[in-house]
Parts: sequence; structure tokens; C-alpha cells
Amino acid sequence: MNLLVTGGSGFIGSNFVRLALEKHSKIRLVNLDKLTYAGNPANLTDLETDSRYRFVQGDICDAPLVEQLFAEEQIDMVVHFAAESHVDRSITGPGAFIQTNILGTFVLLEAARKAWISEHRSPITDHRFLHVSTDEVYGSLGDTGLFTEETSYDPRSPYSASKASSDHLVSAYHHTYGLPTLVTNCSNNYGPYQFPEKLIPLIINNALAGKALPVYGDGKNVRDWLYVVDHCEAILQVLENGRLGETYNVGGNNEKQNIEVVQTICDILDEQAPALSDGQPRRSLITFVKDRPGHDRRYAIDAAKIKDELGWEPAVTFEEGMRRTVGWYLDQVEWIAGVVDGSYQDYYERMYVGR
Ligand code: NAD
Ligand code: TYD
Repeated sequence: MNLLVTGGSGFIGSNFVRLALEKHSKIRLVNLDKLTYAGNPANLTDLETDSRYRFVQGDICDAPLVEQLFAEEQIDMVVHFAAESHVDRSITGPGAFIQTNILGTFVLLEAARKAWISEHRSPITDHRFLHVSTDEVYGSLGDTGLFTEETSYDPRSPYSASKASSDHLVSAYHHTYGLPTLVTNCSNNYGPYQFPEKLIPLIINNALAGKALPVYGDGKNVRDWLYVVDHCEAILQVLENGRLGETYNVGGNNEKQNIEVVQTICDILDEQAPALSDGQPRRSLITFVKDRPGHDRRYAIDAAKIKDELGWEPAVTFEEGMRRTVGWYLDQVEWIAGVVDGSYQDYYERMYVGR
């Protein structure tokens, strides 16, 4: 099997690449990644000598490159992670989200269609195009209810609108051309290799450095947190056994208010890391800041379909996942220093200083 992974140098992609190669000795895996600020080749240095793995630095919007890779590598399956993924960035600069998330997905779909489906040939049954998406396409919940695969789309940020658009394109390619597609809509992930702009790694990083911990609004927005390796296991399950043309929601059954997440991190770090220089508990760093515009209140996934059809459910509890994650960041001071480079710092200063 020749598998093309896009965005394999990012957070979820790098965890997936490692897991897929661990679990499947016979695959060839090509990772196409542009290495934006969020893509870090250091996430996969351990695979550099693995002959089953090839890294290609390039843009999914580059149609000739993508078509060349399909031909050269005889690609059978695609797992598509590459995206601009941070809601706050989509608010300050939506253009890149439209370009990569919508047009880039279109380029990949076209390349798969051209390679796999001709006028005379129906698709070979073991081809797969798995599009990795988000629960944010469903909009925002009130205090009750869960997103199912039947929930109507109601994206409310430029990020979620761009992901919703790409989901629709994938669905259209299945219905129109018979492309063998699968879509997963997953809740918020956390774990090793997450860029420290998203809530959990940002709070860990700041709490270690004794910096303010910015909590948007009243801190009561709810997310359904899933340990990243559980998400990667779900993707492998769907890739291997999912029904073509179907969507599978993936979630952690683990709703938390943001403030609870931040407090948990503070408490674990007080236990495991050296105390702050002023001797105060890390909760003293919590700072409520101006809310995100259009901030979705609550996301929560009903993951019954993937459990009933494919037998997948999360294996790692929030308590265990958070301990592993905080432990990983404590051990990875170099990794953090490497990603928190000049360009990120500029962005960080713009976003948080003076709020
Ligand atoms: P990430 O931002 O950490 O990584 C994205 C990767 O894509 C980076 O390696 C980046 O270099 C690469 N990339 C960006 N633009 C590219 C382009 N034009 N061409 C090639 N590569 C490009 O993102 P992530 O958190 O790992 O998310 C991966 C996917 O999962 C995304 O599609 C996202 O929408 C989806 N998702 C994420 C979460 C989450 O909680 N992080 C939850 C559900 C779904
Ligand atoms: P984030 O990790 O950006 O994921 P998403 O917006 O895709 O859910 O944010 C998770 C939640 O944490 C979200 O409700 C916004 C909030 N948040 C903060 O309160 N402070 C922060 O510094 C960040 C980055 C997020």
C-alpha cells in the first residue's frame, strides 16, 4: 500500500505517521508538507532512516507536484491532514485558510480523481481518500445536545467555514465521480507535538515560564478533549474498515470548561515542575482576557456511530492524557524552543501582549 499523508509534519499528522508505520510494516508512506509555521520536520527526525518513509516539502495547492507524486509513487490511499488549523489566526488572516483548506483539498481531490477514475475504469476498490475534519463545522451547542453525523453544518469562523467547504467538496466527489472517500469530524485534540498556540500547549508553556495564562471571556466555553493517539487510531480504523462515502464523528466523551483545563495544567505543573520564583501556585497566573470574536460556546460529539460500526472508542482518560502531555512538554524544552522562533514570537506578542 502506498499512502500519501498531507500535513504529516504537523501535530496530528506526525503522531499519525509514526503510528501508521508502527502498525503496518508493509506500507510506503509519503508525507507532503509545506512546512508552514506549524509544520516541524523535527517532529519526525526518528523516521529519517526508515526506507518506507519519504518526506516531500511542497504545497498541496501545487497541482503539478501533487499529480506527479500520485504517478511517481503509485498512490493508493490519501490521508489528508494539511490545513491551516488555528481559529484565532483565521480571524486575523483568513486568506491562507481559503487557499489551503479549500483550494488545496480541491487539488488533491482532482489528482485522486485523475489517477484513480477514468471514463473506462471504475475505481479500484482498495483506493481510499480520507479527509480529516473537525467538529467545528457543526457550529456551537447550547448547554445540552451533541453533534451527530446528521447535525446540519453551521460553521461560524473562517477556519470552520473553510473546513466545511472542503468537507462538501469531498462529499461531492464521492457522489459525482464515485471517488472512494471517507470523512472524519473530530473534537479538540491534545498531546505531544502540538504547536504552542493552541490552548493546552500554550498554557503549559506559559505556566512553565511563569507568564500570564490567557483565558478568553469567562472561561466557561466547553470543548470535548481527545488524546491525539486515540484520534490517530480512529483514523486508521476508518481507513481500514469505514464505509465509503460515510462520515464518522470522533470524540473524547470528555467535555471540559476551558478554565477547568487550565486549572488542571497548573496543578499538574505545581506537582511535577520546579515552583515559580515567587512561590505562588500557578493558578495565580490565570488572567481573563478579551473574548475571541464569535467564540463558539460548546462543542460535544456523539461518537456512537464509530463505536457501533468500527468498535473504536477512546482509550486514554483525560487525567492520564494530561499527565502524559505535560510530562512530554517538560521533557521537550528543546522542541519548544525550536518552534517558538522569531515569526511565532511576533504573532504571540501581537495576540497577547497588552490584552
Ligand atoms: P497543524 O496546524 O499542527 O498542522 C498542519 C500541517 O499542515 C503542518 O505541518 C503544515 O506545515 C501543513 N500545511 C499547512 N498548509 C499546507 C499546504 N498548503 N500544503 C502542505 N502542507 C501544509 O494542524 P493539526 O492540529 O495537526 O490538524 C491536522 C488536521 O486535523 C487539520 O485538517 C485540522 O483541521 C484537523 N483537526 C484538528 C483538530 C485539533 O484539535 N488540532 C481537531 C479536529 C480536526
Ligand atoms: P483552541 O486550542 O484554539 O482550539 P479551538 O478554538 O479550535 O477549539 O482553543 C480551545 C479553547 O480555549 C477555545 O474555547 C478558546 C480557548 N482559548 C483560551 O481561552 N485562551 C487561549 O490562549 C487559547 C489559545 C484558547
